Amino acid sequence: MKGSFEVRSVEETWDLARQLAAELGPGDVICLEGDLGAGKTTFTQGLAAALGVRGRVTSPTFCIVQEHAADPSAGGTVPLLVHMDLYRLHGEDDVLAIGWEDYLARGAAIVVEWPERAGTLVPASARHVVFHHLGEETRLVTIDI
Ligand SMILES: Nc1ncnc2c1ncn2[C@@H]1O[C@H](COP(=O)(O)OP(=O)(O)O)[C@@H](O)[C@H]1O
Ligand SMILES: [Mg+2]
Repeated sequence: MKGSFEVRSVEETWDLARQLAAELGPGDVICLEGDLGAGKTTFTQGLAAALGVRGRVTSPTFCIVQEHAADPSAGGTVPLLVHMDLYRLHGEDDVLAIGWEDYLARGAAIVVEWPERAGTLVPASARHVVFHHLGEETRLVTIDI
């Protein structure tokens, strides 16, 4: 899916994430770009729900990476969701140090907040979703795939 979508609530953001989740497969990297509070983690929660992740998906800012077992019987096709928030890292060396290449090789769906920190390490095949904060509950979400 590709295009710009104006969403007016968290529920609409989750709905959009569910639609993207239906297209995901093992090894896919999804880069989420946008300012703090733009909705990246909220979108990840919608993806996780659609992939059958049980339990809460929170912002991983303080631990950088969180792994969530997914449940393909929920309708998704990936066994694992890896959620990264690179905000606190300073560049490609830091990103390599958290085991970036190992994660890419694991057959997970990998969602990356602040992918700018990974620079050229982001695979060319990565999908990009950009969030703009338009109003209290309104966001413009551009999916470029
Ligand atoms: N349409 C919307 N989509 C996403 N988040 C929304 C929306 N409307 C309000 N919000 C709120 O905005 C905040 C977004 O935070 P979060 O998803 O953590 O952003 P980020 O990860 O980009 O910093 C949350 O408090 C969420 O409840
Ligand atoms: Mg976040």
